[in-house]
Amino acid sequence: MKNLLSMEHLSNEEIMMILNRAQHFENGGNPVLQREFHVANLFFEPSTRTKTSFEMAERRLGCTVIPFDAEFSSTTKGETLYDTVKTLEMIGIDAVVIRDKEDEYYNELLEGIGCAVINAGDGAGQHPSQSLLDLYTIQKEFGRFEDLNITIVGDISHSRVAKSNATALTRLGANVRFLCPPAWAGNFEAAHSWDEVLEDSDVIMLLRIQHERHSVSKNFSKESYHAEYGLTIEREQRMKERAIIMHPAPVNRDVEIADALVECSRSRIFEQVRNGVFTRMAILETILKGRDQYDNSYTKCEATQ
Ligand code: CP
Repeated sequence: MKNLLSMEHLSNEEIMMILNRAQHFENGGNPVLQREFHVANLFFEPSTRTKTSFEMAERRLGCTVIPFDAEFSSTTKGETLYDTVKTLEMIGIDAVVIRDKEDEYYNELLEGIGCAVINAGDGAGQHPSQSLLDLYTIQKEFGRFEDLNITIVGDISHSRVAKSNATALTRLGANVRFLCPPAWAGNFEAAHSWDEVLEDSDVIMLLRIQHERHSVSKNFSKESYHAEYGLTIEREQRMKERAIIMHPAPVNRDVEIADALVECSRSRIFEQVRNGVFTRMAILETILKGRDQYDNSYTKCEATQ
């Protein structure tokens, strides 16, 4: 695996290999990297979890993290993303972790860039590392994906998490459903009432309203959204006995989920954050290990000349 760009590019076997490796790291296992790697995190959109947990994962793998501050980089002087990444590659960076507001920004990096590219979120496109940590969380809980009813609730059309998880979970055998206001369904067929999905869901996955990607306001007050589409305390009491609540976060308390439910016994919201470090270690190790093989053969080739 040279890059991680989209869940659509990963086979089920590659997904399961990463989840197994995440379990290895959670169990205290060591990485198998052959040398010190240099990684830079390029975040052109805000982030708390993804940026920090990638940095933690990089440090736990023994990588050197080269600081990159998007606001003070030469992209503000008109430098393209391609030229920025090429520059970092020439300085000696092995891998870049990138979040950008453009869908599929990575297409301009596929030709001519030698360092590995890990997508930490592209516009309203994909968020593959979040999807992998979500899958890891579900697998730890249920030990399987087949026949689980997984309901994704909220701003589906603007959510990269919804798209990444719909792709992967469906392929792994889960029954993925959606619940959202009609205007936010995008290309998905969605339920419009909790009664259609609440009581047989194994996982309720809530999403934040992505105001920054809305061109026009949808006229929901926080209270009206919570009443119609939020997970209220009354709704939580109707969930299946072993069903869990997930949310990629950041959470808007009392909008998509009642404040009192954020850390209730069903909630895995902060557990997801913890799992993100092990999953990102697995992603980085898989990609950097591949570069080791490439680098070794390159060195051998040079040495025989
Ligand atoms: N879930 C997620 O991507 O959170 P951040 O925006 O804080 O990285």
